[in-house]
Amino acid sequence: MAKFIIKQSGPLTGEVEISGSKNAVLPIMAATLLTAEPCEIDDVPHLKDVEVMCEILRSMGAVVREDWDTHTLFIDTSGLCTSEAPAELVKLMRASIFIMGPLIARTGSAKIALPGGCSIGNRPIDLHNKGLRQLGAEIHMELGRVKASAEKLEGALVYLDFPSVGATENIMMAATLADGITTIENAAEEPEIVDLANFLKKMGARIKGAGTDTIRIEGVPELHGTKHPVIPDRIETGTFMVAAAITRGDVLIKNAIPGHVRPVMAKLMECGAVVNDEVDGLRVRGDLKPLVATDIKTLPYPGFPTDLQALFMALLATVEGTSTIIETVFENRFMHAPELAKLGANISVNGLTATVSGNEYGLRGASVTSTDLRAGAALVLAGLVASGRTEVSDIYHIERGYEDLVSKLRALGADIERAEDDETGAFED
Ligand code: UD1
Repeated sequence: MAKFIIKQSGPLTGEVEISGSKNAVLPIMAATLLTAEPCEIDDVPHLKDVEVMCEILRSMGAVVREDWDTHTLFIDTSGLCTSEAPAELVKLMRASIFIMGPLIARTGSAKIALPGGCSIGNRPIDLHNKGLRQLGAEIHMELGRVKASAEKLEGALVYLDFPSVGATENIMMAATLADGITTIENAAEEPEIVDLANFLKKMGARIKGAGTDTIRIEGVPELHGTKHPVIPDRIETGTFMVAAAITRGDVLIKNAIPGHVRPVMAKLMECGAVVNDEVDGLRVRGDLKPLVATDIKTLPYPGFPTDLQALFMALLATVEGTSTIIETVFENRFMHAPELAKLGANISVNGLTATVSGNEYGLRGASVTSTDLRAGAALVLAGLVASGRTEVSDIYHIERGYEDLVSKLRALGADIERAEDDETGAFED
């Protein structure tokens, strides 16, 4: 199994270009199921999760062409021949559930294996089901899969008990082809929802209010093919912002959208980093003054993103003072705390609250394990400032969601290599 081998690196300096958003492209790929005409998606990040979604679409009869030189996907679902996705592919990725809404809307049925829980929480799909039922779908959970059918979806008022990103996206996609008007209240407001709505609108959907807590969708009889560039990844942006701060570096993050990372900018500035919105991108400097503790509470957008909580935990372990982190979105998202502790971080967890007692020189290299995608990235950044050598295993989690992480970090001066298990000895301390 591959690992990352990381040696303590000096401050990261230079420029990095942010890739297209993983969480935007996955529902957009699913949305191509809403039309029999071909679609082109640009600025697509080359990630394992994207490859899995390509395979899921192909398995159902779609023709998918990937051009990784130009980061473009061409998807033609005119040959859709089933509304059942293979369980072995679906189980690889929770985002597979995004095909449910489009499949019911286009074919009147969907049979999808339950993606199941994962290390950060149970991640049920009750809100997806509730919303789709309100549009008239019959949904049964049986033998580890969800089976949905509807002769014709009808627009409805859908109130989400929690502003779930995935449920908002699934219901919005299904509602584009429903009869009449659907209103989603307490909808998620993430930029990825706006990007999906923009894609759907280019396909001919009538959607208003995406990016607010109330989305109104007027169903249309059919959608057509289109071409759309995916927004830059705000979580990758935040990751490199933290990378600049934790290494006390100076990094220009190109292709970042500052409006998508406001809470990250605010929290880094509270820590003493300097963040400037420059012509070429966001410049983050951690080298101008000593960094200090701050408190974090994760929330749905526009609050502080849960996907950057682990990365901030790593950063806060390296600043003077005591910080409190409260996780409110997922019920089990502190799996990285014991791994960071192996690197010398002083963290105590009590329920949904973690207390981090930081120390600039506190981390030392060790062998650690990625427990999920963002937890893995946090360990990589911690490894950059830990003394000596750090090995991060189970990096398949990280490679699901970061394009070229190693080469991007190396270009900024990081000492990191990807190695197969039997190659680790080649890397000297
Ligand atoms: C998406 C993101 C993920 C991010 C998360 C929260 C994608 C592919 N993934 O995940 O990176 O961490 O948003 O910003 O876009 N919930 C229910 N019932 C449901 C649906 C969700 O109880 O039917 C709960 C979840 O268990 C979780 C919370 O709602 O505790 C938030 O989940 P949700 O917003 O749906 O996240 P995802 O769409 O799965």
